[in-house]
Amino acid sequence: MSRLVYVLNGPNLNLLGKRQPHIYGHETLADVERDCRAVAAELRLELRFHQSNREYEIIDWIHAARETAGGIVINPAAFTHYSVAILDALNTFDAPVIEIHISQVHKREEFRHHSFVSARADGVIAGFGTQGYLLALRRIAWLIDEKAG
Ligand code: DQA
Repeated sequence: MSRLVYVLNGPNLNLLGKRQPHIYGHETLADVERDCRAVAAELRLELRFHQSNREYEIIDWIHAARETAGGIVINPAAFTHYSVAILDALNTFDAPVIEIHISQVHKREEFRHHSFVSARADGVIAGFGTQGYLLALRRIAWLIDEKAG
């Protein structure tokens, strides 16, 4: 199976580090990408790391991943809670999908407790801060290795 992994980030995550740091921490998305690349190198994964505030771009990246990728790590941000279109796109992708949230969404407002994406995700990580991305990459690598035998 392909060792290419897409790490996809939804709206407002470009402001990570500046945006509500008491909830999301002080690390920027560039810090997260740097740490993901370090872990990916260790795990021999190839990474495509993207962020968009536009739903269609996330959908287009999921479509691009369909033919090429061995897994997707996705923090859909607010799209989590209402995007049937992202769920539908993920349902066209056959390899592992891990959903990640920096904050512990279940401890927050009720509207954050429901995720459309969880209906497809093979695993969900929430409340581990930005370390959640690194845990998700480790899980995807493990699943790829398991499948390769
Ligand atoms: C988030 C949680 C979402 O509820 C929120 O809309 C985000 C970020 C998280 O990473 O904790 O933008 O996905």
